[in-house]
Amino acid sequence: MSDDAERARWAPLLPHAPVHFPRDFAWGVASSAFQSEGGDVANDWVDAARAGRVPPNPGNGFWQRAEDDLQLVAGLGFGHYRLSVEWSRVEPERGRFDEAAIDRYRAICDAATAAGVTPWVNLFHFTHPRWFAARGGFLETANHADFLRYVERVGRALAKHARHFHVANESMVYVLTGYMMGVVPPFVKDSASAFAMTRHVLTLHADAYRILKSQQPQPTVATIEVYLDPRPEDPNDAQQRAAAERFDAWYHGVLLEALATGWVRVPTREPEEIPHLRGALDLYGFNYYNSTSFGAGGAGSWSDRDDPPVDRMHRKVHPGGLEAGLVRVANALPGVPLLVTENGVPTTDETFRSRYVAAHLAALDRARQSGAPVRGYFHWTAVDNYEWTFGFGPERFGLVAFDPATQQRSVKESGRWFAEVIRGGIVDPARIP
Ligand code: FCB
Repeated sequence: MSDDAERARWAPLLPHAPVHFPRDFAWGVASSAFQSEGGDVANDWVDAARAGRVPPNPGNGFWQRAEDDLQLVAGLGFGHYRLSVEWSRVEPERGRFDEAAIDRYRAICDAATAAGVTPWVNLFHFTHPRWFAARGGFLETANHADFLRYVERVGRALAKHARHFHVANESMVYVLTGYMMGVVPPFVKDSASAFAMTRHVLTLHADAYRILKSQQPQPTVATIEVYLDPRPEDPNDAQQRAAAERFDAWYHGVLLEALATGWVRVPTREPEEIPHLRGALDLYGFNYYNSTSFGAGGAGSWSDRDDPPVDRMHRKVHPGGLEAGLVRVANALPGVPLLVTENGVPTTDETFRSRYVAAHLAALDRARQSGAPVRGYFHWTAVDNYEWTFGFGPERFGLVAFDPATQQRSVKESGRWFAEVIRGGIVDPARIP
């Protein structure tokens, strides 16, 4: 496709006037333990890879090179780094905690701080220890105490090394893909299980929030959920409209109501009040990639344009979903500050990546102008990493590439562009490639 045609696709999505960000706006990058560390850990994804159900994950070397990576992101101007703890590393067997692994996470947090980067620690990002998966994971309520013991143990170990925690990344995506669609571990495809899991992950969030908040010094604890912005492909089609609304009511509606009121109303289950879920967040972590369509052929991605840019995962670029979602969450949870905890794009085209970020920063700014208290933007991700069922393919989200043979890092063009945005606190239309 010609450069001009591609430019025309982007034109309506990009800002036409400079977009300014306040001095104290938090610029960060986000990552997860398993996606960057990889390796032969005793978790359910390693087992699924051995069974040939997902790609293998050698990692990008972060476990060994975290200190260098943190210096690198600090050098680009980022002041925050979201990482996660791989549960199977710190508790490889039930009840046996590996002090050396815990020490390594302490050292990583300290290296961040030393580089001038604030660490944000997430405790669950899709992977389970093998032993926990074998016992039936979160679906068995008898296992919940195992997770809470891990939260308590790691929270206490890191309390003096990190001030910001997340209990889980995208619990609803975990339930959707692992229990409703059955496309990732534990590969369950059963709506009754998915609805039970919805209730369980919410309860676990409330319990873990309470545990983390009891630590000294007391951390800030945030949720993280990805906004999927469900839309009917054809707004005049009643069935499609109903499908999008049904999905939205479960996927977004249950979580937002539960956090606001403590009431968990999951389809097919009795409403249940979990009082300590009400307000169990100091900050709402908002992830966003694209809007979701419900059409005749099932679910896909959605845009309000006929010919939008399309990413390497065939998803239509629609920054309006980020704006609408931030405003919606701000209205649903008044008084709760918001942080974009993930946004980014799978591509090997660095012009595409910079434009994608510019368009989404402009949408974020519009949400701020409408009153959504958005405190920062964390980009997914710094160094290219394992993209779950896509492995290490062309679906690359990093601002930094690495050579698998030498682990050598190299900043991409989009990384240099982003550093300039941070330096000036401005997205300048004249500087967008
Ligand atoms: C998010 C996940 C994250 C990463 C990005 C691309 O939904 O939280 O682990 O894979 O997508």
